[in-house]
Amino acid sequence: MEQLLEQINAYKTEIESLTPADAAALETYRIRFLGAKGIVKALFGEMKQVPNESKKSFGAVLNDFKQLAEGKYEEWKTGLAGQPAEAAPAVDFTLPGATDPMGSRHPISLVRNEIVSIFRRLGFAVAEGPEIEDDFHNFTALNLPEHHPARDMQDTFYLHRNPDWLLRTHTSNVQVREMEKGKLPIRVICPGRVYRNETISARAHCFFHQVEGLYIDEQVSFADLKQTLYFFVQELFGQDVKIRFRPSYFPFTEPSAEMDISCLLCHGKGCNVCKHTGWVEILGCGMVHPHVLENCGIDPNKYTGYAFGMGIERITMLKYQINDLRLFSENDVRFLEQFSASF
Ligand code: DAH
Repeated sequence: MEQLLEQINAYKTEIESLTPADAAALETYRIRFLGAKGIVKALFGEMKQVPNESKKSFGAVLNDFKQLAEGKYEEWKTGLAGQPAEAAPAVDFTLPGATDPMGSRHPISLVRNEIVSIFRRLGFAVAEGPEIEDDFHNFTALNLPEHHPARDMQDTFYLHRNPDWLLRTHTSNVQVREMEKGKLPIRVICPGRVYRNETISARAHCFFHQVEGLYIDEQVSFADLKQTLYFFVQELFGQDVKIRFRPSYFPFTEPSAEMDISCLLCHGKGCNVCKHTGWVEILGCGMVHPHVLENCGIDPNKYTGYAFGMGIERITMLKYQINDLRLFSENDVRFLEQFSASF
């Protein structure tokens, strides 16, 4: 018994003085002290020789020793694992990378770009004009003199500072500015934002977007207008789409028409979108009124031309089946991220 205790003390001192330098040295230690045929196991085997009255105290000493041997082993093991040679890679290369969220094009921009690209292929150039406009370019030059009742068709925001200034109610102002330049022929499309004093609802807004078209040359006819618009809607909506023209009134064109396309949703059978008529209106158009040509310094005896104007929101709603105009300006990411990220 005395001898055993001395032996244990010697092992303790040995263990305290050890520092295994690497994994191999640690393994040698483990086998020597903690292995199946190791010292700890052997000492427990000695228990049976210990007299009954000393079993308790010897057991306690033995357990202490075992804990020391095991504790040191765990300590060295973690210490060695922290060493650079053995270190686990700090970065897990199999994890998916962190990606930056990609923005997407606004649906209005997507459709505007598509409209522009179709007309560019037909030789139309892009022209732009100011959103704050004077009365002449927005109304008077377009055959809408002051007090003309047709001004009521467009509720207008006027500027306090100068009652001659307003937020343009349509992109037709760009027609006037292009004609004033005096360079003929003219073949332009004019995309842009316009403003009207409307109560905001699912179907109306105080600002929206239009694309205006204008073609002025010698001998331009209504047939040219029809063919151009027919090509345009086939490119935008597909080859199967049908068109029809209804007589209408705009002060700046004579004759004037509104163009309908066959309903994309029900293909003419009748549904809510086309109000069960099979047709949906998409634009206004006509032959440029001789007064407008004159107002802009162009000789109506020599030149003729056509013009058209369409709302981009309306076309976008038809194309993507969107039923509330307000979605376009509310900036709800859940709505916006549904559209293509391509540029
Ligand atoms: N400016 C018209 C509007 O905002 C749309 C329009 C109709 C434009 C006929 C035109 C046109 O150039 O010929 O309601």
